[in-house]
Amino acid sequence: MDLFYFWSFGCLVEMVIRPQIHLCKNGDICAGLRLTNMTAPALQDPRKDMELHCRFDMGGEELYAVKWYKDDHEFFRYTPAASVTITQYPVIGVHVDRHSSKCMPDGCDLLLKELSRPQSSGAYRCEVSSEAPAFRLASQTHNVTVAGRG
Ligand SMILES: *[C@@H]1O[C@H](CO)[C@@H](O)[C@H](O)[C@H]1NC(C)=O
Repeated sequence: MDLFYFWSFGCLVEMVIRPQIHLCKNGDICAGLRLTNMTAPALQDPRKDMELHCRFDMGGEELYAVKWYKDDHEFFRYTPAASVTITQYPVIGVHVDRHSSKCMPDGCDLLLKELSRPQSSGAYRCEVSSEAPAFRLASQTHNVTVAGRG
């Protein structure tokens, strides 16, 4: 028991000093969710499909959702624990090819087809969030300009 109290006091100190730290399900200190890499083309040819990639490290936390936005409008959501794991929302200029898109516990790759020059250009954001008790949020945004001879 002494050991347990000593250990939890250490954790408490850690959590006060570094408030982003908290306990994982297994009792260890979690490093926490990090979005490690998002890629999107800066310049996209409208005649080709556009690839969006998002990679993350859950750092011991449970994935709640991966949400994709264009200009702050959500168009795609992956919620692995929900009964419906993939939800799409209509956003002008965005057409996700479901069969060529894949979301996993550590990443989410989308293929966007039927691009149009002004409508498909914009700021694309990948936002990853973790379950309770952390409720951590990480996101990255890339500006995409759809331009070419298309
Ligand atoms: C995207 O472009 C806007 C202006 O058009 C700029 O304010 C913003 O910083 C850019 N974002 C990124 C991630 O490059």
